[in-house]
Formats: sequence, structure tokens, C-alpha cells
Amino acid sequence: MNVYLDHAATTPVRPEVVEAMLPYLTDFYGNSSSIHGIGRKAHAGLDGARRTIADILGAKTNEIIFTSGGSESDNTALRGIALARRRQTGANRIVTTVVEHKAVLETALDLRDHFGFDVTLIPVDGDGMARVDDVAPLLGEDVAVVSVMLANNEVGTIQPVGEIGAICRARGIPFHTDAVQAAGKLPLDVHSLRVDALSGGAHKFYGPKGVGFLYLRQGTPFQPTLTGGSHEGSRRAGTENVAGIVAMAKALELAEIEREVEMRRLQLLRDWLIGGILEKVDGVHLTGSPFHRLPNHASFLINGVEAEGVLIGLDLAGIAASSGSACTSAAQKPSHVLEAMGIPAQDAVGGLRLSLGRSNTPEQIEYVLAKLPRIVEQIRGSVPIAF
Ligand SMILES: Cc1ncc(COP(=O)(O)O)c(C=O)c1O
Repeated sequence: MNVYLDHAATTPVRPEVVEAMLPYLTDFYGNSSSIHGIGRKAHAGLDGARRTIADILGAKTNEIIFTSGGSESDNTALRGIALARRRQTGANRIVTTVVEHKAVLETALDLRDHFGFDVTLIPVDGDGMARVDDVAPLLGEDVAVVSVMLANNEVGTIQPVGEIGAICRARGIPFHTDAVQAAGKLPLDVHSLRVDALSGGAHKFYGPKGVGFLYLRQGTPFQPTLTGGSHEGSRRAGTENVAGIVAMAKALELAEIEREVEMRRLQLLRDWLIGGILEKVDGVHLTGSPFHRLPNHASFLINGVEAEGVLIGLDLAGIAASSGSACTSAAQKPSHVLEAMGIPAQDAVGGLRLSLGRSNTPEQIEYVLAKLPRIVEQIRGSVPIAF
């Protein structure tokens, strides 16, 4: 049996999405900036996609910027807002959490090391959650931008983005959220989230790789990172990836239509998987919040094993999983997320992330629960290895 449990890493492109994008690779291949008919067809595709995504976010169409993916959206938001706001107000501090994806964390550190910003990292509790009470005192007049992810990629914890956003809004500080893991799984209404900027990437919700979007609220201080032509309202230069963008909009539209029903289904499977693993595998515990977590996300620490061995054992059994960026070998640096949650480096080697999606069935969960305990025992040396 083949079981794909790495949907947090990436997802397959849905057939309906391939169908939607194909005409833009073949018939409507024009440059969307061209005046002629075939260019206008491409431009219409772009307009439709922008409308679809704006509607799902509760945004205006001119507040959506197309990018090459989640990393570019995060970079564009952080760099663009921090630099413009410093120019306008002199604010020189970037506030973000210790558990952000590297696309945010490394960008903040780059802005510190090469552009002279100060960076303050918000701590998290043992569940990987930032506490609103810890954030509020950090938000003074010197803050140029705040960035807090909606859901964590390694441990699935959902952050109190709406509450932090309300404080930022009241103090006039631009607020960005990395919603790359959340898109298609949680509501993305930018008004309830109280965000000025929100990043998404298509390949996490059954769209193609290499395409993403950035919501940028009208009036937010911003300067472009990619300069050149006047594409995307002069906020991101470069001929748009029309087929990819049309595909992304179709994928997000389908995910949004199916979201409530599909997430209920996945949450049931996920809870069965978590319960079964906690029961059948000795010395294992759940990482991240048991309650405030993505409905498709399960992550664990398994005592006395290295993630790499478990992943290889699972792979040999046809199960694709990940360590959730936890270190896969004792020689490597432990995951910054697990470290921030207070997990000692020597324990952080046994991280396992199982992230569910559309292809997963009850039979597959049963299969994983039958295989995993034995794989762990084999690695611990308590039973002979016999794949
Ligand atoms: C939370 C988060 N942010 C950003 C990214 C980067 O997205 P992309 O792969 O589209 O550049 C990822 C991808 O793993 C992610 O999980």
C-alpha cells in the first residue's frame, strides 16, 4: 500500500486544476500585458484569478499581488513593509516569533544584518504558541512591522493572529501573517484576522509549485523588492505566470468550497492516527497544541530513535512522512521550533510529522498504525529488523 502523509511539504495538483490551467499554456499563451487579443485573453485569466482569490480573502482585487510562492510572498511583505515604514516613520524594529518558517525568520535576520533593523523574537510556550500577553508590551512606536504565522509547519499550532492583529491595528503597526500552511484549511478572512499582509503558496493546496499570492491591504506602507516593469500595480515586476496563477485560483476555490467537510473528515482520521500512535508506540508524545492545531496535522517526538531511521522504515513500507524539519541526525542542528518549545536537543532528534490530505483513507490509517509500532521497535533494537 502507498500512503502519502507529507501534505505539509507539498500536495499533488488536482486534475480539475490541471484542466483549468492547460488553455493558458496552449491557446491563451499571450503576454498578459499585450494589447492584442491573445494577450487580452491571458489578462482576463489573470483578472478572474485575482477576483477569485480576493473574494476568498474578503479583499479588494487590487490588494492581491501574485508571486512565485510562499517564500517570495514572505520576503516581499517583510522587506517591502519594513523598508517603506522606516522611511515614513523612522520605526526600525521587526517583531516576529521564534517559530516562524525560515522564509520569515531568515528575512528578518537579513534585514537586521544588512539593513540595520533591530529584531525582537516573540517566545512561545511548550505547545509552540505565542501568548498575546507577551506580544503586547513589545509593540511600541519603534516597530516597523510585526509578523506572526497563522499555523506552524512543523507542529501545526495555530497562533492567535486575530488578537495580535487587533493590538497592531490599534497601535497603527502593519501586521503580516504567513498563511502558507493554513490556506485551504482555515478561514482566510483578512478582516477577522486583522492583517495588513498575508502570504499563501499554491503547492500546499493542490495547486502547482512556483506560484503564490500576497494580500497587501490598501494604504499599507510598501516598497517593491522586485523592480522592473509595472506588473502587479508596480509592486512586483515580471511577466505573470498566468497558467500557474489561474491554477492557483482554481485550487483555492475548490479547497474553500470543500473546506469544512474535508477538514472534518481529515480531523477524524488525524485524531484516530494520533490516538493510535500514542497508544501503540511506547515513549511517544504529541508535539504542538492538542487543541489549537491544523486539522490535518499530527507531529510527535519518539524517544530513543532518530527520525531518519523511522522515515526510512516508513518509506520501505510505502509510507511517505517527514521529520517536520526536526533534525534527522544527531550531528545536525536541532529544529529551531522544537528548541523554542523547550525540548532538549538530544530529544529533538526523534521528530515525526504526519500531515494528511485528500488521498488518505481509513484503511491507510489502519495500515500506518499496523506498521509504525514495529518500525520503532526494530530501530530501538527490541525486535530484529525484517522488512
Ligand atoms: C509556513 C511556511 N511558510 C513559507 C513556506 C515557503 O513556501 P514556498 O515553498 O511556496 O516557498 C512554507 C513551505 O514549506 C511554509 O510551510
